[in-house]
Amino acid sequence: MQQAGNLAARPVAAGAASDLLTVQDIKREYRVKGGLFRQDKITHALKGVSFAVKRGKTLAIVGESGCGKSTLARILTLIDAQTAGELQIEGEIINIAAQPVAPALRRKVQMVFQNPYASLNPRQKIGSILAEPLLLNTNMSAAARQKSVAEMLKKVGLPVEAHNRYPHMFSGGQRQRIAIARALMLQPKLLVLDEPVSALDLSVQAQVLNLLADLQDEFHLTYVFISHDLSVVRYIADDILVMCFGEVAEYGSCEEVFCNPRHNYTKKLFEAQPHADIASIQRRIEARQKAVEQQTGA
Ligand SMILES: Nc1ncnc2c1ncn2[C@@H]1O[C@H](COP(=O)(O)OP(=O)(O)OP(=O)(O)O)[C@@H](O)[C@H]1O
Ligand SMILES: [Mg+2]
Repeated sequence: MQQAGNLAARPVAAGAASDLLTVQDIKREYRVKGGLFRQDKITHALKGVSFAVKRGKTLAIVGESGCGKSTLARILTLIDAQTAGELQIEGEIINIAAQPVAPALRRKVQMVFQNPYASLNPRQKIGSILAEPLLLNTNMSAAARQKSVAEMLKKVGLPVEAHNRYPHMFSGGQRQRIAIARALMLQPKLLVLDEPVSALDLSVQAQVLNLLADLQDEFHLTYVFISHDLSVVRYIADDILVMCFGEVAEYGSCEEVFCNPRHNYTKKLFEAQPHADIASIQRRIEARQKAVEQQTGA
């Protein structure tokens, strides 16, 4: 672990002011017990990952199973601590191994998980699930919490009556809307979404992606979006980070990486997803670029 000290939470000048999140050479090792007469094994889940995400933008993280995406998500959402390296949110260096995270900081970052069936308590009504973050983190009155819940249900496209029902009374897409609503209750700045639509069928995926795009505009949210599906990434992301065995294989804008993949691993990843139709994704990106150039007279 990084040594405790003055690294816990001090403002720094480094990083562009427009960056909400900066990650510098983050490493994460896991020690797995070897058992009787066997040595402990060290897994290097992240071997030095660096990137930045601008305010209001979306960074997609792609890569094969086991390359470290969820490990990174847990570090970004302050659930887990890095072994080395530096994490900054709004210019503040954060090291949860050195010092407990201040509640105001924890509120800035929220996570949406892949499986909305497992991430919602089946015994809690939706109203109580959504009000809980407010109950635990604010001094709002019961009436104000109820009002906030009703407003958020509307924002994510669910009827207000949903507050009185249990999670099993909703479809997968509706449950993911509830999970997104819960993540937004404390007005975070950064949402880390770990495969948020992969458990949903195609038409529902599109609805949830549209909802996420609308919410991003409305609340000026910054997203880190983990996905294995390149057509989803093309739709939602501004930038892409391609990970391979705990390292960054490629990092750039959607345009750069889709139209001109430089790393062999990225090319192989694209070839492995014929359904994503990379050629048509490239054509659409180029057409969009041309339209922007014509508009701006570039
Ligand atoms: N708590 C842990 N203890 C030990 N090893 C772990 C732990 N969590 C993750 N790992 C290991 O770290 C590596 C990265 O795992 P991670 O879950 O981050 O991958 P991933 O990219 O999210 O995979 P997937 O696409 O399948 O979700 C794997 O080798 C995994 O076995
Ligand atoms: Mg994962």
